[in-house]
Amino acid sequence: MEFFIDTGMIDEIENAAKWGFVDGVTTNPSLIAKTGRSQADVINDICKIIDGPISAEVIATDREGMIKEGAELAKIHDNVVIKLPLTEDGISACKWFSDNNIKTNVTLCFSSNQALLAARNGATYISPFIGRLDDIGADGVELIREIRHMYDNYGFDTKILAASIRHADHVKKCSLVGADVGTMPYKVIESLFRHPLTDKGLAQFLADHSKANS
Ligand code: E4P
Repeated sequence: MEFFIDTGMIDEIENAAKWGFVDGVTTNPSLIAKTGRSQADVINDICKIIDGPISAEVIATDREGMIKEGAELAKIHDNVVIKLPLTEDGISACKWFSDNNIKTNVTLCFSSNQALLAARNGATYISPFIGRLDDIGADGVELIREIRHMYDNYGFDTKILAASIRHADHVKKCSLVGADVGTMPYKVIESLFRHPLTDKGLAQFLADHSKANS
């Protein structure tokens, strides 16, 4: 599974880049708002740090507006992926971007039928929001499993980008059901390193080494 970091914070992206396994970045209007900067400036800076897909979301809600805005965002860097909401206009704009060889990430997906529409229109990524589904008592990981099955039935190239990941167990389960990518906040990635037996074992090794060499 590929790892994307879900943030607009440059310091987090710089730290995450040092880990070596972070393949890309996703942002959304809420994450960009937290930075207090313009989307173009943030995306431009991110592109200098991570050499991989960087999702930037359109604000327009009509097809023509999305196309205009997305085409501008795409000019920032070849790695920019245009994030479109899963609405009728968003899916229609997705077709325009795929026809024009511009990568897309169709976001706010909450059902396998929605994912089917995005794949039919050539979306590069589909983003099912698993945490938000769990929040309303549904099963987010089950949606990833359904979409995997559906896409494999027809050989769609659209990558399943598990989004709204809230904790380490989501990461494990998404990889077990075959998500292509997981995007998650910095603190979730950081938590994947941690295990109390690793800390305990390392402390013991270091203590034994120091005893033997004193
Ligand atoms: C993904 O692209 C979204 O930015 C993100 O995963 C949403 O996560 P949230 O539900 O925690 O806001």
